[in-house]
Amino acid sequence: MKTTLTVNAREYDVDNDPRRTLLDTLRDDLGLPGTKKGCDHGQCGACTVLLNGERVNSCLCLTAMHDGDEITTIEGIGSPDKLSALQEAFVKHDGYQCGYCTPGQIMSATAMLKEISDGAPSYVSDDLQTASLSDAEMAERMSGNLCRCSAYPLIREAIAMASE
Ligand code: FES
Repeated sequence: MKTTLTVNAREYDVDNDPRRTLLDTLRDDLGLPGTKKGCDHGQCGACTVLLNGERVNSCLCLTAMHDGDEITTIEGIGSPDKLSALQEAFVKHDGYQCGYCTPGQIMSATAMLKEISDGAPSYVSDDLQTASLSDAEMAERMSGNLCRCSAYPLIREAIAMASE
């Protein structure tokens, strides 16, 4: 039996080993190494992807539970010839140092900007339901994505630029 996933608008039938994480399926089975493995325990955000449009830590998702779901990875955002607005902003603002966390940061920021334009989900407190975020508010919303190089100010500058 197989699990069917739509990843970056392409359909895949993958092994539905009940122990396999979505992160390992993406990287090892589908050859999409842009999604990074950091902690493998839901702590760092390096493995962030969009699952039906919502940001999730793919290391905490079991592939077999996502039959029929739509996944977007960093490979599905922009292209080498045409970067997304966020990717361009990260380049312009040096929103990285070693770059390992960057795919997760960009996927998380992509979802965050969509949350703002669509109306924030209920778990976000009322004082954060604003269209333009302060630096502190953005830091809170991006707190699930760690950067061991501590490039946080540049990452937030890049996101702010892309949201203008
Ligand atoms: Fe998934 Fe760190 S690798 S949160």
